[in-house]
Amino acid sequence: MGDARHCLRMLKTTGPILPPFNFNNAEIAAHSPEVTGRILLNSLCERLGWNSLRGRRLLDFGCGVRFARTIYNLEIDIAQYCGIDANAAAIAWLRENVRDPRFRFEYLDMRNAMYNPGGSDAGVADAMQALGLRDFDAACMFSVITHQPPQQSDVIFAMLRPCAPRLYFTAFIDDGVEDYADRDPSQPLLLATYSSGHIRRLLAKADWHVDNIFAPSLFQLTAFVCSAEPRRGIADMIASRWRGPR
Ligand SMILES: C[S@@+](CC[C@H](N)C(=O)[O-])C[C@H]1O[C@@H](n2cnc3c(N)ncnc32)[C@H](O)[C@@H]1O
Repeated sequence: MGDARHCLRMLKTTGPILPPFNFNNAEIAAHSPEVTGRILLNSLCERLGWNSLRGRRLLDFGCGVRFARTIYNLEIDIAQYCGIDANAAAIAWLRENVRDPRFRFEYLDMRNAMYNPGGSDAGVADAMQALGLRDFDAACMFSVITHQPPQQSDVIFAMLRPCAPRLYFTAFIDDGVEDYADRDPSQPLLLATYSSGHIRRLLAKADWHVDNIFAPSLFQLTAFVCSAEPRRGIADMIASRWRGPR
């Protein structure tokens, strides 16, 4: 039988981590990040047709800190979680404090008028390839397209296309707007709102096929589940022109 010191050592784990950041709005942040994180990750799995994250490789663009915290603190089984964000301090903190080979964090200095106005657009289109970010089972973006103008969403959809065969993201959708509207001019990009047709056009341009669209639900806005369309080679294009419209 061990003594008290031995028992205390047995109780030690590497966690929990408590990142000193919050990127969620007040209503969401009123709940524990692990609670909203677990509900969203369960929803993502269900909508992608996965039983769980076990054995999965997930790329989280605009990751903030919530899913890293949820997966790590709740000891959720996953093969790899890679978070990318334009917030240098959050990424540095996660790199320093999440000591687990299943996790990877990358900083991307991409310009965003709300989150990273000093960032740049130069070279971002090739950033994922430069970082070797590929062979993921899915890429996800929670509350990220919600704060992007169409030019930036366009780049992001294209960037993620070679990284994973599936894409899950949330967006402000309102078919009353013509293509796109930044709904609160006093706070640029707080409410970047798209018509569903415009989001579909941007996705199609990047060779993403929309498999399903889910109405807003607990802790998330309208959610899109997409699959990579096979890239059309020149031979396919000639063949389809030859066949004519169907
Ligand atoms: C509302 S927060 C959501 C964070 C996280 N996805 C979640 O659900 O908790 C938006 C996050 O996206 C990041 N972000 C916004 N635009 C970005 C961009 N162009 N590139 C990388 N990160 C971006 C922000 O820094 C911020 O962490």
